[in-house]
Amino acid sequence: TPTPIGVKPLMGFNNWARFTCAAQARLDGTRDGYSFQQFMQDQAKAMSDTGLVAAGYTNLTVDDCWMQRTSAGYLHGAAAWGGTSQPGFDWELTDYAAYLHGLGMQAGLYSTSGVNTCQGVPGGVMGHEQADANSLAYWGIDSIKLDNCGTDSTNRQGEFTTFANALNTATAGTGRKILFNESAPAGYGPASAEKYNTMDWVRTLGQMWRVSPDIAVWHPSTTSAWDWPHGGDYYEGGVYQNFTDAVALARYNAPGNANDADMLLIGDNNQLTLPEQRSQFALWSAMGSPLMISTDVRKMAADPVTYAPQLGILKNADIIAVDQDALGAGGYLASRGNASATAGIDVVVKPLAGGKRAVVVLNKNATATTYTLDLGRVGFSNLTCTRTARDLWSHTSTGVQGSITATIGAHDNAMYTIDPGSCGAAAPTGMIQSAQP
Ligand code: GLA
Repeated sequence: TPTPIGVKPLMGFNNWARFTCAAQARLDGTRDGYSFQQFMQDQAKAMSDTGLVAAGYTNLTVDDCWMQRTSAGYLHGAAAWGGTSQPGFDWELTDYAAYLHGLGMQAGLYSTSGVNTCQGVPGGVMGHEQADANSLAYWGIDSIKLDNCGTDSTNRQGEFTTFANALNTATAGTGRKILFNESAPAGYGPASAEKYNTMDWVRTLGQMWRVSPDIAVWHPSTTSAWDWPHGGDYYEGGVYQNFTDAVALARYNAPGNANDADMLLIGDNNQLTLPEQRSQFALWSAMGSPLMISTDVRKMAADPVTYAPQLGILKNADIIAVDQDALGAGGYLASRGNASATAGIDVVVKPLAGGKRAVVVLNKNATATTYTLDLGRVGFSNLTCTRTARDLWSHTSTGVQGSITATIGAHDNAMYTIDPGSCGAAAPTGMIQSAQP
């Protein structure tokens, strides 16, 4: 029986933020006969070759545009790269899932709760819920991302519930589960009634859910993937916006329940500086978000020397361990220096198993800043007692009393786990996991 996925925040790859539905070429620039299936398999092989699979990134999810629906109503794989179906580019989904399983990975697909996907492909589950769930089970698919396009506040909960039930029916008695990844809360504004109402039901149906806008790689030149604020429709956001929206919902994280702050822009050509890539990784892990890489992993596999810094971020085992910690808590904002993405210091604290705490100190300033972190703010008392702080970027441990002072570069961070030893565990946060506010 395969290990159930989704008990811990999902780790893997999703092609959307970096590639969308645009038809892709091989690394040598040729595209003749290069199918969407082969492109995804090449990313999977690169995930394995770079050691990312061994580091824990085992899920490979193909996003919108992989599918069509037959005239008889069955879902099948037929790539709509560039928006049009490409004859001869049908997927062999059973082979595809088997290929990923052979690499020690799981296969994830995308659909939507309406009739047409967000890119207008008629592959949504509405009206085909049980048949589609049966197809996923038959092909050996391990996870499904279900988007919002085609439903709204009048029928979304009903449609997600119908599909969750169809997944359970399709897998009943097989000993395997299909992870249900729900987009439902994504499009609602922070702290809106619709957001909280949706948070209340998604956690009864699935294992993870998007809580913030689509992380944006393409942006006007006046801003960047770091500081792009979401627009009025909450459709797109940069790293700082998605962090801000997701961290406010920390109480909904629990084992088997993960707030998804959307994809990691760490790797090739994702418009973040290396310090910003380090900070996205630290923040996402401190929030207990799924860690889904969206970059050209093929390039990193072909040139691991050039991409050593990015691979080093993604494979930082100390930081991955914070994300995957057994307590399953979310990280909360212990202080925010300034509302801006580009000024002040933010502190995020994640309770860990065994009375430990993880802490990220984020320097949003444009220059290096020296900051003293008060361990009282992290939740500890008895501050003259010596605790062990592990620096998760340098992988060194030191004894600390009361506070930790560090100089942090622009848009970079310091990250620690603090082990109270015999000094006394951290105070309870008052966080109620998975409960309505
Ligand atoms: C929505 C989702 C994205 C992606 C696209 C695909 O915008 O939020 O993550 O799946 O649809 O069309």
